[in-house]
Amino acid sequence: MRPDVSVSSTSMRRILRVDLLRCIGVFSGNPPSHASLTAVHKNAFLQSFSRKSTSDSSTMDLSDMRKKYKADEECFEESQLVSLDPIKQFGDWFDQATKCPEIGEANAMCIATASKDGRPSARMVLLKGYSDEGFRFFTNYESRKGSELESNPHACLVFYWEPLNRQIRIEGNVERIPFQSSCDYFHSRPKSSQIGAVVSRQSTPVPDRDYLRQKNAELLEKYKDTEVPMPDYWGGYIVKPYLIEFWQGQTNRLHDRIVFTKPKDGESESGEFEHAAEGGWVYQRLSP
Ligand SMILES: Cc1cc2nc3c(=O)[nH]c(=O)nc-3n(C[C@H](O)[C@H](O)[C@H](O)COP(=O)(O)O)c2cc1C
Repeated sequence: MRPDVSVSSTSMRRILRVDLLRCIGVFSGNPPSHASLTAVHKNAFLQSFSRKSTSDSSTMDLSDMRKKYKADEECFEESQLVSLDPIKQFGDWFDQATKCPEIGEANAMCIATASKDGRPSARMVLLKGYSDEGFRFFTNYESRKGSELESNPHACLVFYWEPLNRQIRIEGNVERIPFQSSCDYFHSRPKSSQIGAVVSRQSTPVPDRDYLRQKNAELLEKYKDTEVPMPDYWGGYIVKPYLIEFWQGQTNRLHDRIVFTKPKDGESESGEFEHAAEGGWVYQRLSP
């Protein structure tokens, strides 16, 4: 059992990077000088100008928008898996993403949930830790995602690290983490974030921004000298994975897809191209 790896909020702080400012320059019709463009910026710049209008002036035709992926010799072979344990493999790609200067928030992931009758919804959240047990994030239990997870405790997570041409998809069962673990994390956050969590009855309508501003000010005053109690409608979830797919984009569209699945107890029938992995996992390559 490996220790839970917490993702530090300071190292992951959102920053408005120079890249982004440059991109804003591109889209506002104020292109940066040629010399100042890195390969990435050039790509964004060229892509934005290769869009063309269709005869229907209300539709932008994006059919020419594509980017270069890795060369074929950089393809992702089974022999390049650092481990046959998909959590370790996740850790390897995640570490590379955190070290990539072009990636602002490597721990940002899209989480899809669905209502009991199968209507999906998706949004971004931040991964706050992972271990053999699963992937943790924090939210409001009464939010849309929270209520969907209460009635349908399955979720799908997607990381997309564009500069690395990598995507990871994780599917799993979802559970609330223990109350004390949520409390510990809640009180490790800056006081302003704690108050923000109390102020926001996430996903419910409010009259206007002033309503939130005023509530925030009242709570800042109320808890000026005392600890902010964690609201019972806030806490963490863990996604316990039964599928983890690693996708590496390639130039020639022969993208690499290696998927690990965890057969349920008693499910022993293996597919034709399935291989044994570690920790009860099996893996196979999927067609792109
Ligand atoms: C990069 C990014 C990170 C976010 N992180 C979180 C998070 O960790 N927890 C959270 O509740 N909402 C987070 N949000 C806001 C959610 O995307 C969403 O607006 C909110 O959780 C309400 O979603 P819901 O109404 O579908 O439940 C984040 C948004 C972005 C863009």
